[in-house]
Amino acid sequence: MGLNIALDGPSGAGKSTIAKLAAKKLGFVYVDTGALYRSIAFNALRNGVDLSDETAVAESLKGLELQLKYVDGAQAVLVNGEDVSGSIRTPEVSMGASAVAKLPSVREFLLETQRNIAAQNDIIMDGRDIGTVVLPNAQVKLFLTASAEERANRRFKELQEKGDPSTYDEVLADINQRDYNDTHREIAPLKQAEDAVLLDSTNLTIDEVVDEIVKAADKARSDGNNSNDDGSSEGGVSDNGTVKKKSERKRRDMMELRPISKTKKINPIRQFFYGILRGITIFILKLKYDLHYEGLENVPRDGGNIFASNHRSYADPYLIAMGVRVPISYMAKEELFHQNIFFTALIKFLGAFPVTRGAGDLGVIDTSVDKLESGRNLVIFPEGTRSKDGTVGKGKTGVALVAAVAMTKVVPVGINFEGEKLKARKHVVVRFGEPIDVKELGINGTSAGDLKIVKKKIMEGITSLVY
Ligand code: DC
Repeated sequence: MGLNIALDGPSGAGKSTIAKLAAKKLGFVYVDTGALYRSIAFNALRNGVDLSDETAVAESLKGLELQLKYVDGAQAVLVNGEDVSGSIRTPEVSMGASAVAKLPSVREFLLETQRNIAAQNDIIMDGRDIGTVVLPNAQVKLFLTASAEERANRRFKELQEKGDPSTYDEVLADINQRDYNDTHREIAPLKQAEDAVLLDSTNLTIDEVVDEIVKAADKARSDGNNSNDDGSSEGGVSDNGTVKKKSERKRRDMMELRPISKTKKINPIRQFFYGILRGITIFILKLKYDLHYEGLENVPRDGGNIFASNHRSYADPYLIAMGVRVPISYMAKEELFHQNIFFTALIKFLGAFPVTRGAGDLGVIDTSVDKLESGRNLVIFPEGTRSKDGTVGKGKTGVALVAAVAMTKVVPVGINFEGEKLKARKHVVVRFGEPIDVKELGINGTSAGDLKIVKKKIMEGITSLVY
């Protein structure tokens, strides 16, 4: 099995120059996937196919044979046996490649070809979606970029040397248009994989970038993580050059950011019944406990917010929910969902969703973001278990991960009462702190280091509300 290096980035960032040099130094095969998209565009254009007509382009793929050949380390691409390596570099084919690259039939057609090459060789593969879609398990992932002007400048010089009459402004306009096409298409858009190392070639020399790649590959190789498909020895190079274990990388691969931009409103009928139930519950809770709320002015009137609280009793989700107009959701032990159907229906209506302890947190994070997206607020107890003596624990980073993935603000909550148990007639104070927005939380990404900083900020907010 080969060692795979995924190199993604926008047009003209210097990927092919750099990948060729790195491949030579490492003794790897360089795979230029852009040439495959270009060949499809070239073939279609030659046959007079309208590139915006998906059916016609899909039809042009039938019987099409694409081959990559390596002569002295250089890649040549053959379309039905004809070497088209020279003809696919014109501006017309570049724009055509960008157009066909957004068609699902084209991407599907090329996916297996690319994966097969990577499975059989030590490769450095450049493209737009190599680290995210084609080889999500590549041991080394890099994202190479440079400013649009710098890229246009380089391409312009290249074209001039070939005698192409395009002006700098035309080349820049082309680059901008292709950037737009590549990043805005629905499938496999150009984007940096979560675990890819970012390299900006505006400020780095070619040799410096090549050295980075060679170092990363040597590290991955020396750590013996040369397998990319059996899972047992899989690894990847992280931002600091260390090799990550498969489980960690898988987790981060899947942590696509899902910012809650426009939260849906809760269905008005549900909101109405919820309002009635909430009124009744507040009445009962106030009969049972000496219940007080502080900081209600801090509670956002919309949904899609995280409420992070210390954890003192089973009633906590409800004590918090009663201070919040929009329905909440909260995680509850799986076992609670296997009681009688009325109880299960009730807790579901009150917003509980199941978590299986120790089963990993990916599904839970996704469900949490689903709930926020649906317009509910999400109550999280970062400590996980209840605190008997009222002291606030260190907390886990799950709350920070949800906040980072959903990019949403966090309202800290402090639940206060004396003694270990929440008994009838006890004096209970639920305090809502000021919402901490994404900027204040310091959300930068989902790496373990980033999440620790965010979690600390949240725990400080909670602690300040607990006496
Ligand atoms: O890297 P290049 O300029 O030769 O690529 C030509 C076009 O192909 C580019 O506009 C985007 C597309 N492409 C893609 O969508 N996915 C890839 N893996 C490689 C290229």
